[in-house]
Amino acid sequence: MEMNETLKTIFSRKSVRAYAEGAISKEQLEMLVRAGMAAPSAVDQRPWEFVVVTDRATLARLAERLSYAKMAARAAAAIVVCGDLRRQWGGPDSVMWSIDCAAAAQNILLAAESLGLGAVWTAGYPYPDRMGAMREILSLPDYIQPLTLIPMGIPRGGEKPKEKWNPARLHWERYRENLGAEPEKRAAVHE
Ligand SMILES: Cc1cc2nc3c(=O)[nH]c(=O)nc-3n(C[C@H](O)[C@H](O)[C@H](O)COP(=O)(O)O)c2cc1C
Repeated sequence: MEMNETLKTIFSRKSVRAYAEGAISKEQLEMLVRAGMAAPSAVDQRPWEFVVVTDRATLARLAERLSYAKMAARAAAAIVVCGDLRRQWGGPDSVMWSIDCAAAAQNILLAAESLGLGAVWTAGYPYPDRMGAMREILSLPDYIQPLTLIPMGIPRGGEKPKEKWNPARLHWERYRENLGAEPEKRAAVHE
């Protein structure tokens, strides 16, 4: 089947952790957040909040406190995708916010790829220490949960999308356990 532009973007997306000099315009950042807000959410509750950070000192503080998001110090910007426990479907003790916000975060990653930007999902939720650091630095109240910090910038280049297609994980009509050989998988490097 032929690739269209959307499929090309999906298959070209990769985590980018090294950035060249250069800013991301406010217009582009707003477009990324618009893409986030276009995501599906349970009962259309849209429990998300997006904190866009471009201030160098704040990016440096985030990098300093988050050992798996060191690249934030060299990023042009970062978008923190958060969920509001009060606005999610299922009440304040539900985890629906994290599912809704994951859909929004993926939209942002794909939109960034489509604009020629490089971005990477770095974890907030479910790690209390990382969420605490984001909470403190970004003044998030306790009902606002940070799912992910997405540092982004002009890609320095070099990263390639991984080939992840694995026919053993595809099941037609019903599940059948498949113990076939797994394709070689390189360990992720978080730095
Ligand atoms: C829930 C989640 C948490 C992640 N946390 C981090 C992180 O803290 N730091 C990081 O550098 N990458 C993080 N990643 C990115 C993954 O390492 C990356 O997506 C994976 O290695 C596959 O590579 P790809 O994105 O280039 O396809 C995370 C991704 C997800 C979905």
